[in-house]
Amino acid sequence: MWRHTYVMFPVTLVGPRVCWREMSPADAEALHDLLVHPAVFDKTLDEDVPPADALRDYLREQLGTLEDPERARYKLALTLDGRVIGTGGIELRGRHTGEVGYVLAHDQWGKGLATEAAALLIDFAFDDLGLHRVIGHTDPANIGSRRVLEKCGLSFEGVHRSDTLQRGEWRDSAAYAIVEDDPRPWTGQRGDGPGGSYALRTAKTR
Ligand SMILES: CC(C)(COP(=O)(O)OP(=O)(O)OC[C@H]1O[C@@H](n2cnc3c(N)ncnc32)[C@H](O)[C@@H]1OP(=O)(O)O)[C@@H](O)C(=O)NCCC(=O)NCCS
Repeated sequence: MWRHTYVMFPVTLVGPRVCWREMSPADAEALHDLLVHPAVFDKTLDEDVPPADALRDYLREQLGTLEDPERARYKLALTLDGRVIGTGGIELRGRHTGEVGYVLAHDQWGKGLATEAAALLIDFAFDDLGLHRVIGHTDPANIGSRRVLEKCGLSFEGVHRSDTLQRGEWRDSAAYAIVEDDPRPWTGQRGDGPGGSYALRTAKTR
């Protein structure tokens, strides 16, 4: 059943440490700085990172689309203590499926923040958007991203051969998914901020 009967706007998702919120043109500089880091760039964009001015123009244009009743992209900013430390979101693939994505500033890696951020998005996809299935794709060699998906309860479904064109080269992707009745390996729901009821259990699956 399709339950997404109204537009979700503005989206704010609050976890114990990180928050997702709508992006604004004022985020352009922070976004540029995090995307341009070689370790991040290597794993994400297919082209050069646009200058901050171009990103600002793009974000300004996007503002006009956020309240579209057919909104299919929930591309959000991730913040920690009010500072933008990442970007990502849920992109609808048809009516019942959403694809989760996330990018974190390099100086924030290794603290469990991406897992917390992705778990918030997955709750949002099921509990607010009413989706049936959430998928995640990543370079099979991107162990950090694979671990994030696994810790959020997504199961590995196989490798899609040669399905992503990155800088002129066709690459495989590892496909993961979770469906609405699958157990989510975190307890509670979203909190009201630091100290909220939201908690993660991060059992290793391999
Ligand atoms: C992938 C990314 C989001 C992970 O962010 P993070 O905040 O460091 O992730 P977390 O701390 O929540 O969890 C990372 C997990 O991967 C593990 N990990 C990371 N790199 C690893 C490596 N090279 N080998 C083995 N394990 C690794 C960590 O140990 C951790 O698992 P654990 O909790 O079981 O120890 C971040 O590295 C990033 O933004 N990368 C660039 C963009 C990107 O790849 N996005 C995903 C595109 S699909």
